[in-house]
Amino acid sequence: MIETIRNKIEKIVEQACAADTNIFGYDIWTHHILQVVQNAKQLAPRFDADPEIVEFAALLHDYASIKDEALYADHHIHGPIEAEKLLKRFGYPEEKTEAVKDAIASHRASVRIEHRSAEGACLANADAMSHIEQPPSLLYLAYVHHGMGIDEGRLWVKEKLQRSWQKLREDVQDIVRDRYEAALKVL
Ligand SMILES: [Fe+2]
Ligand SMILES: [Fe+2]
Repeated sequence: MIETIRNKIEKIVEQACAADTNIFGYDIWTHHILQVVQNAKQLAPRFDADPEIVEFAALLHDYASIKDEALYADHHIHGPIEAEKLLKRFGYPEEKTEAVKDAIASHRASVRIEHRSAEGACLANADAMSHIEQPPSLLYLAYVHHGMGIDEGRLWVKEKLQRSWQKLREDVQDIVRDRYEAALKVL
């Protein structure tokens, strides 16, 4: 049953990524969401986090801003609300829904919220890790989405990477240290 719910959620998020209204383009599905899901599952044992909760939270963590650009600025607030609507609709257990919402609420580097749970910390690390793994996605965001100039975009990406890096737990930094240092050298 959980697997069925997961598949339905996955379909809905992928469809939202493919919709014309998604300002990030379909690439956010292939280059970010799926990557965060994979990272979260990989990191779950290190954080003593529930792998099912982190998988659902990873799938849904940016859903609000993908669905509606106006929700981007506060998507750590709208994310849990949107997640709850979907999870309720598919009959996902209430206690687990709360855990998924908590993790989504604390996932952003730019918004300082104490990590409330192992799952929240795991998701935040998986999200930050994916930024460090995907500098081209950030460059695309800067130049195409935000329409920045060369140096403005370079600096924006660099600072985003630095913030993501600072959000990583030390043992997770070790996993992506090579990529981080290489990216900084280029930027
Ligand atoms: Fe996000
Ligand atoms: Fe994200």
